[in-house]
Amino acid sequence: MVQGFSREPGTHGPLTEVAPEGRRKITRWAAAIALGGFLFGFDTGVVSGALLYIKQDFDLNSFEQGSVVSILLIGAVVGATSAGRISEKIGRRRALGAIGVVFIIGTAIACAANGYLVLMAGRVILGLAVGAASATVPVYLSEISPTKIRGRLLTMNQLMITIGILVAYLVNLAFSSSEMWRAMFAVGAVPAALMVAASLWFLPESPQWLISHGQVDRARRGIAALTDEATADELIARARHRIDAERAKERGDKGPRDSGAADGGIRRLLTPDVRPALVVGLTLAAVQQCGGINTIIYYAPTIIQQTGLNASNSIFYSVFIGAINLLMTLVAIRLVDRAGRRIMVLVSLALMAVSIFLLGLAFVVGMNSVLTLLFMVIYIAAYAGGLGPVFWTLLGEIFPPSVRAEGSSVATAVNWVANFAVSLAFLPLAAAIGQGETFWIFAGICVLAFFFVSRYLPETRGRDPEQIEAALASRFGHPSGRQPTKAV
Ligand code: BGC
Repeated sequence: MVQGFSREPGTHGPLTEVAPEGRRKITRWAAAIALGGFLFGFDTGVVSGALLYIKQDFDLNSFEQGSVVSILLIGAVVGATSAGRISEKIGRRRALGAIGVVFIIGTAIACAANGYLVLMAGRVILGLAVGAASATVPVYLSEISPTKIRGRLLTMNQLMITIGILVAYLVNLAFSSSEMWRAMFAVGAVPAALMVAASLWFLPESPQWLISHGQVDRARRGIAALTDEATADELIARARHRIDAERAKERGDKGPRDSGAADGGIRRLLTPDVRPALVVGLTLAAVQQCGGINTIIYYAPTIIQQTGLNASNSIFYSVFIGAINLLMTLVAIRLVDRAGRRIMVLVSLALMAVSIFLLGLAFVVGMNSVLTLLFMVIYIAAYAGGLGPVFWTLLGEIFPPSVRAEGSSVATAVNWVANFAVSLAFLPLAAAIGQGETFWIFAGICVLAFFFVSRYLPETRGRDPEQIEAALASRFGHPSGRQPTKAV
């Protein structure tokens, strides 16, 4: 449960501390926490179908239509930025419950909207919740995960995002004949209510958070319930040692007057020890979006229409894309703790670069629609089998525990800003330089990202936070006090 759950730092051996029953319990907790990911996917996905009917009801012009979609992304930037401080202050469990309440409020306002402005208010509130959930879920998952299955549990976030997107498309399909856009939004209230209930009655607080906030006995009881007393004592001792070492380092960085681990978070992100994690986190956050994924996820039906395929069933094509996205995420979950994060991101970026280049070529030279669709599917599969899920996994792993919430928060905010920028720029850019040429820009970004990752991203699988920090430092050529075990 406390991150670094294997007894020997750096061992990749079997996880003996958590009995199968304990593992099942942790997996159920992870599924409940990842409801935040489901809502992220659902609320970003549902609007594409709902908008078809909202624009008629409220007589929206094209700017207003675009703003109903993108205002959520702006809310998400703010939500992600604030989430780190909040979950550091009130704890991960209560933060998740509070986010669930915000989801319910946003959903209620969007459903009840009698015009454009009220709808915008509902969407911005939903955005706050989506952003806060996206920054909190990886941290919380990471902190309840034993090292050996940490990757798998962290990828559950992306799995739930993709399920959320797919369910949104299916809900759109189900309500499209009756044109009930309010009902489309309303479905989101169900997982939000479940998330609130899980936070109240089912989920444990993160042991890492409890320890760093002086509630060691509660943390020990939680771990002992999953393992045994001796293991709990050992893990607690190690976690305290880690926190003390980080605080000592922090005092060294800032002087003794403000040494609180929680308060120093944001400033600590800029210290030389944490900077490599920040550079990697922010770059991957931007790359995950600037590789162009949401131009396909958000605009797939439009792109498909342009290839000359029958447009009447555009929502059906979205469902197909959503299903590939989900299936390949399942593959990634199986691979992440075996193959490792680094190789998965590298293969993913290489395949994304090639497939989106070919997709661009298909547009430029006017290839037939089946080939175009094939390149699009390969591109989605390449993303969903690597960069998509592994970005969220890495976000829960690369920052040292005392700044994990803030680090994740800042990187998630960058992810939303990049999402907003790419979504906004795509259509005008395609109109100005051509659709295919725009895809070539995304291909170029994937190539650059490939070189960045191969130079700066170490493997994190099976490693303790200290080892990850040392491995990052060695990749950035920083002198580090500790020597990483097999730092690659
Ligand atoms: C990204 C989203 C994207 C989704 C697609 C997520 O990891 O952050 O922007 O829509 O993957 O599955």
